[in-house]
Amino acid sequence: MTRRIFVTTALPYANGPFHIGHIMEYIQADIWVRFQRMRGHQVHFVCADDAHGAPIMLKAEAEGVTPQQLVARIAAGRPRYLTGFHLSFDHWYSTDSPENTRLSQDVYARLKAAGLICKKDVEQFFDPVKAMFLPDRYIKGECPNCHSPDQFGDACEVCGTVYAPIDLINPYSALSGAKPVLKSSEHFFFRLSDPKCVAFLESWLAAPERLQPQVANKAREWLSGRGDRALGDWDISRDAPYFGIPIPDAPGKYFYVWLDAPIGYLAALQSYFTTGKARARGEARGFEEFLAAPDTEQIHFIGKDIIYFHTLFWPAMLRFAGPPYKVPNHVYVHGFITVSGEKMSKSRGTGISPLRYLDVGMNAEWLRYYIAAKLNASVEDLDFNPDDFLSRVNSDLVGKYVNIASRAANFITRHFGGALRYSGDTGQLTARAAAQAAQVQESYESREFGKAMRDIMGVADHINQEFDARQPWVLARDPNRAAELQDVCSRALAGFKLLSVLLAPVLPAVAERVARQLFGLERPFRWSDATVLPERVNAYEHLMTRVEPRQLEALFDAEMGAPAGAGGTAARVAAAASASTTSAASAAAPAGAASISIDEFKRIDLRVARIVRAEAVAGADKLLKLTLDLGTEQRTVFAGIKSAYDPSALEGRLTVMVANLAARKMKFGVSEGMVLAASGEGAGLYLLAPDGGAAPGMKIT
Ligand code: 2FM
Ligand code: ZN
Repeated sequence: MTRRIFVTTALPYANGPFHIGHIMEYIQADIWVRFQRMRGHQVHFVCADDAHGAPIMLKAEAEGVTPQQLVARIAAGRPRYLTGFHLSFDHWYSTDSPENTRLSQDVYARLKAAGLICKKDVEQFFDPVKAMFLPDRYIKGECPNCHSPDQFGDACEVCGTVYAPIDLINPYSALSGAKPVLKSSEHFFFRLSDPKCVAFLESWLAAPERLQPQVANKAREWLSGRGDRALGDWDISRDAPYFGIPIPDAPGKYFYVWLDAPIGYLAALQSYFTTGKARARGEARGFEEFLAAPDTEQIHFIGKDIIYFHTLFWPAMLRFAGPPYKVPNHVYVHGFITVSGEKMSKSRGTGISPLRYLDVGMNAEWLRYYIAAKLNASVEDLDFNPDDFLSRVNSDLVGKYVNIASRAANFITRHFGGALRYSGDTGQLTARAAAQAAQVQESYESREFGKAMRDIMGVADHINQEFDARQPWVLARDPNRAAELQDVCSRALAGFKLLSVLLAPVLPAVAERVARQLFGLERPFRWSDATVLPERVNAYEHLMTRVEPRQLEALFDAEMGAPAGAGGTAARVAAAASASTTSAASAAAPAGAASISIDEFKRIDLRVARIVRAEAVAGADKLLKLTLDLGTEQRTVFAGIKSAYDPSALEGRLTVMVANLAARKMKFGVSEGMVLAASGEGAGLYLLAPDGGAAPGMKIT
């Protein structure tokens, strides 16, 4: 049965560009959306700028522009990120729109008719110079607890005490510096404490699988008044001046931004329907009919900081507004992203600049893969660690995945003109692929992306092992064994196709190139392609390069405010980069190294080698025993790199070896060459590696 799914990510405030936390959320949702689409489901994936509220109004004022101009400028910058990170939103809209005004006023009118809106007088600080009520964050003063000066009106950043603005000692307006005065004004409230709201929310939260268990527990805590934020009636109005949607029949009153923001999900959907894009995705019904339909699934991806709004206010608003509004089916919550263990600030957007990531030439699919590999269905935070990023991407994507195609396709092109042929029964091959695809499918469905990536890399390991075990480089030398060579390469390429389908939600651009270019399909992959054995391949074309340490160094450039935790990495990366550059710069020999002639240099036979196996050596602290594939033969090399590498991370990757070094008998066996690694002043050791596309045996000149 085709599912009809309406998916959103949280609407970002339109007061600044995206930070890495936004991009992580979008990548998570996008992977899930792409997976569902590959399965043949109809998904409508929308988002919008969250345009209203006091901060945006005040920022615009400070810049001498209207809030609309500010929002338009921010919106104009969005496409670069969305395209750059392959985010497949169907529509991007704004909460400052006629649709949102109409829908917000409609929801309000329905809640009022349901008896759930009341008015109460509220006393608040008022700035007499700016002639406006001050949001808590715009009132500052001395902390009543620790007496630190210049603390915000809601909590002290020094001692952590939470208080009301009125508790501050010597409060002042952060906007004008004036002493605020207490002033009363009538506010509108959504009566969330009404027993019918509470009863509804209890049952909504109890539905199995609707929310992650820890999210449902937290919401239940708030609902029962046990949590850190007891549930009360919700103040949904703000006084002029305010950039927001006017409350009907209440001059000078506006909806608080958090009322119209989630309704913005629906406004974006409505605008998407109006443009005809929903029809293009196969949805024949109109907006309201689609929204109200019992089989429409409404799913929101959000961060853990906005659970309160999405699991209490939002479902209650929708439920009591009545049809066509319908409560969300799921709210999927993720944790924060930290960088080298350091918390990011949402408002300051520290950490990694997504735009800089693209600007320094880093591949968006590396990040998509890394995030997928570290995400699961829980609310845990995710850490971006540069060293881990480099080794995971290089070893998994380039070492294990891409290399299968480059190695196997080259034999098929050279020896068989692109034709694949499988010897013997292929039933087992397809049955195994079906079982592997089913397992990964389950993990994508439940947002256990990390498990999906681990399982996919397990499949890749298996394919590589089977390929290496049959030694196609040996078969290639014997014309009598051509059928065997064709079979081993065909099986590896069938495996590569399976991997490409399974990775397609994460690596959409690479997967599409594989589908069209390598396998000659006229469309991107569908999930069902996973088990269809390919019959031909075109010549292999380069698919992905490795992450270069210097790219991470550029990403964490000191001027960008690299977090302390990343500083060490950046410095170490720099040392490795300069060590390798220096050794390559033959024209200017470093002090102390005698110059050699080109002929002398040419006597060294440097070759690309694949590390087929890497093992610890019993009794040796520093050594790893490497089995290296040179395309035509295998060598054993003992390398002193144990301190820097986990053997399993090395298997499958390419490196550079000195192939004509005289064999040397060591305590543990004979070493038949040497691998090259860079090192600097510090302890780090960095194996050299060629760019993607290089193959074992290639000569380095
Ligand atoms: O926290 C935020 O960034 C809000 N702009 C999220 C709004 S989500 C939805 F309700 F619109
Ligand atoms: Zn304090």
